[in-house]
Amino acid sequence: GALQDKPQLLTGKKVVVTAGGTIERIDPVRYITNDSSGKMGVAIAKAAHDMGAEVVLVAGHIDVVPPINIQVVRVQSAQEMFDAVLEHWEDSDIVIKAAAVADYRPLHTADRKMKKSGDTMTLELVKTVDILERLGQIKKSQFLIGFAAETNDVEKYSREKLTRKNCDLMVANDVTSEGAGFRSDTNIVQIYDRLGLVEQLPMLSKEDVAQRLLTIAATRMGGVH
Ligand code: CTP
Ligand code: CA
Repeated sequence: GALQDKPQLLTGKKVVVTAGGTIERIDPVRYITNDSSGKMGVAIAKAAHDMGAEVVLVAGHIDVVPPINIQVVRVQSAQEMFDAVLEHWEDSDIVIKAAAVADYRPLHTADRKMKKSGDTMTLELVKTVDILERLGQIKKSQFLIGFAAETNDVEKYSREKLTRKNCDLMVANDVTSEGAGFRSDTNIVQIYDRLGLVEQLPMLSKEDVAQRLLTIAATRMGGVH
């Protein structure tokens, strides 16, 4: 069948994928989020499953329905996403951070609906935990993959993030180019490692990007670089 035709490169491996945008609460009826649809992360989770892996999909706010044959952990905030990834961290072989994590969250979350008062209002924000950076610091044998969303100087910023977050691969995409980015069904990505460009992929469906990325990861994990 179709499943048998795909190379089972990830049999016996545990893959943790984060997808979608995080939700940072202001009050019970309001929150901060972003344009992430979760399509890229969900495509990776499906592809990893098809390649024989045990998959955990940690999903924030997503617009797509996750497949029923994959374990899904639903989260809202960056902190919840971090906690969920940590629960599966120890025995995971590949961790892929396709999620769009909010960089800031409200300093205070009101437990009642906030009332309007003055003509202006200021919301105080504080940095969220950088999940990928923290994982990079505690990394042992896990193969760590990040996604860099950029609008300019894509290579420079992506490689800086790869180094700072101690990733094995960084998938860079120009989120403003046609056929790529948050809500698109296709993506145009460059894959970097410590030494530079690994692969420049043409415009592909997010499913095909997922398959290509996981094939590179499967070949490289376990120390053969
Ligand atoms: N990331 C994360 N935790 C955060 C912010 C980002 O784990 N608090 C991860 C994302 O999931 C992604 C990678 O870091 O895999 C890069 O995210 P990106 O937003 O491109 O980079 P930032 O480091 O947040 O820098 P900036 O937004 O300023 O470009
Ligand atoms: Ca960011």
